[in-house]
Amino acid sequence: STSTAKSRKLVTLDEYIIQAQNKFPGATGELSQLLRDIGLAAKIISREVNKAGITNLLGVDGSTNVHGESVKRLDLFADQQLISALDRSMITCMVISEENDGIVRLNSEGGKYIVYMDPLDGSSNIDVNVSIGSIFSIYMRQPRFDKKLVEDDALQPGIRQVAAGYVLYGSSTIMVYTTGLGVSSFTLDPSIGEFILSEDDFKIPECGNIYSINEGSYNSWADGLKKYIKYCQVEDEETNRPYTARYIGSMVADLHRTLIKGGIFIYPASTRYPNGKLRLMYECNPLSFIIEQAGGMAIDGKKRIMEKQPTSIHQRIPIYIGSPDNVKKVKELLDQHE
Ligand code: AHG
Ligand code: MN
Ligand code: MN
Ligand code: MN
Repeated sequence: STSTAKSRKLVTLDEYIIQAQNKFPGATGELSQLLRDIGLAAKIISREVNKAGITNLLGVDGSTNVHGESVKRLDLFADQQLISALDRSMITCMVISEENDGIVRLNSEGGKYIVYMDPLDGSSNIDVNVSIGSIFSIYMRQPRFDKKLVEDDALQPGIRQVAAGYVLYGSSTIMVYTTGLGVSSFTLDPSIGEFILSEDDFKIPECGNIYSINEGSYNSWADGLKKYIKYCQVEDEETNRPYTARYIGSMVADLHRTLIKGGIFIYPASTRYPNGKLRLMYECNPLSFIIEQAGGMAIDGKKRIMEKQPTSIHQRIPIYIGSPDNVKKVKELLDQHE
């Protein structure tokens, strides 16, 4: 009998992007090019991340960034790789990165895209070989009469993102992104240097039994949040409680697990971070876009994160993100115990 090997058709990231672009007759191919450029930088960063221990890319660079964090060598390497990849294809006019105090204007001032990025997320995990990631968020420049670039072109609410995604350098390197038509993921096959489509339309579970938060700041949490975490810990067969606690400390890794398994990730306001620690424009908005596209929710404790009008490029906000049932439950308790 002839064996009919069910050969799964391999679709590369480049092929997928072009197929998606062909669905838009008017598409100019520029966003496609931008996503491919990010994919290229991701392959280079992945290669260095996977051998950081033998090149001198571990450890700190000795400087501190605008957030007062000590900058890791890999933070800067990833930042440089992504900026040069974006600069090459002349379609991005400015980049705002966690590792650069101000706006980085690219010499393609005519480019129509604005890219926010966290070039390396989870830097505290680099030296202990735990998963880290890169996050990106893409906006269009607003049509302007005066052709000068002004910072308020960069201060657009998350609902105006044209694309967002992340790369997770974990047991494998995966790239997950959305352009507003659902969430797809691609796994890097290093032997051929290609990202291969692995999931075409993620949907987050309606309710999950995993909560993810750094409990070290418990004493400075709002009462409603304390009540929610206690709710997660109560025995209740019917609602699958007590939940499981999982905290990796790299937002990209905690979010990716939440996307796949459901549950909730929380980085609340605390004494140390009165507005929360995570940055609105290049951590919270892009990951909120992904989670909402997968059917989830993302709030700052009160309102939808993607509707917030940004006031500065590095501003921090609290974030409660994940399965809709879990986010609604924590919001109910936050509202009750204001
Ligand atoms: P980054 O490494 O880009 O500065 O981000 C680190 C963030 C995020 O990845 C993670 O969720 C959070 O810091 C962990 O913070 P704590 O160590 O305070 O829990
Ligand atoms: Mn940092
Ligand atoms: Mn980060
Ligand atoms: Mn970072």
